[in-house]
Amino acid sequence: MASLQLQPSMHFNLFVFLCVFGTFVSGQFTNFNKLVLPQGVTGPESAAFGPLGTGPFTTVADGRILKWQGPTIGFVDFAYTSPRRTKQVCDGTRDPNMGPICGRPLALSFNPVTGLLYIADGFFGLLFVGPTGGLATQLAGGFKFLVGVEVDLLTRNVYFSDASLTYDIRDTTKPGFVPDSTGRLLRYNPHTRQVSVLLSGLSGGGGPAISKNRTFVLVPELTGKRILKYWLVGPKANTAELFLNIGGNPNKIKRAGRFGEFWVAVSTGFIPPAPLIVSQGIRFNSNGVVLQTVSFAKEFVNKTISLVQENNGKLYVGSRFTDFIGVYSN
Ligand SMILES: *[C@@H]1O[C@H](CO)[C@@H](O)[C@H](O)[C@H]1NC(C)=O
Ligand SMILES: *[C@@H]1O[C@H](CO)[C@@H](O)[C@H](O)[C@H]1NC(C)=O
Repeated sequence: MASLQLQPSMHFNLFVFLCVFGTFVSGQFTNFNKLVLPQGVTGPESAAFGPLGTGPFTTVADGRILKWQGPTIGFVDFAYTSPRRTKQVCDGTRDPNMGPICGRPLALSFNPVTGLLYIADGFFGLLFVGPTGGLATQLAGGFKFLVGVEVDLLTRNVYFSDASLTYDIRDTTKPGFVPDSTGRLLRYNPHTRQVSVLLSGLSGGGGPAISKNRTFVLVPELTGKRILKYWLVGPKANTAELFLNIGGNPNKIKRAGRFGEFWVAVSTGFIPPAPLIVSQGIRFNSNGVVLQTVSFAKEFVNKTISLVQENNGKLYVGSRFTDFIGVYSN
């Protein structure tokens, strides 16, 4: 019986085939699952993981921050931002006008060292909550429409952003809504407890991200369709420059699993409106080189997305318009 003997060249070809094909397949995120919210609840805009990989935690339209406890239990209550919030009145509401009563948290950032969870709320400003959850504590208020937050693990400075000085989240779905260019990048200093305005005049907000070596912060302009780089150190410290033009509306930016890389959630056909909204995740490096684009159009049909969060090789995709967090894996 002649057994199949691979010639050296065949070995080589097989090796090349597996490398090329293997790499291609492993990075495409073709498997899709949903982490479904409790009955009637919508709008999971964020997906943050706790210090020991717990979660994800997410912010929903009825004002709660929920924690994923695995497939058998699902999502459970973790925290809330409004001192006036009651479960009777608020749980399950989708009415944006309830925001000033129920709260509308929109972005999360954990400090794994302290275990504190920082929250940007559309009505209740910048807050934090401890590891046991409950009512969050306000750090800074008086904002119209906070949309993004990220805490620096070393300095504990909190970088956060608002979308506008003139409109809030309720206005964005009104007929004839016209966005302006009054968004800002802000910084909360935990030692002085003061907020500084780092950038103003931004065209829409999203979520800022601090670079891995903490030399700059990336700032998305949702309606400006671009990402700015705000230098924290060096000769250009405290100035911003264009980092990357995006062919759509970039929302939150988050660091990717690989050193120095990021994911940004992008929707096209959102502002200005087009007949069909298409959403995707774009991965890029610290030099602004785009490395990968993953389409979410099939599972997020005609829906904008807010966030792409990589965790353990999976992508968690958040949206204001779904009742689930999308999970893409290989
Ligand atoms: C997408 O959504 C918009 C706004 O709701 C709607 O006008 C449009 O018809 C939708 N397009 C498709 C193809 O469903
Ligand atoms: C930080 O990262 C950037 C981009 O990768 C690089 O250009 C820069 O030299 C790094 N700075 C330090 C202090 O390591």
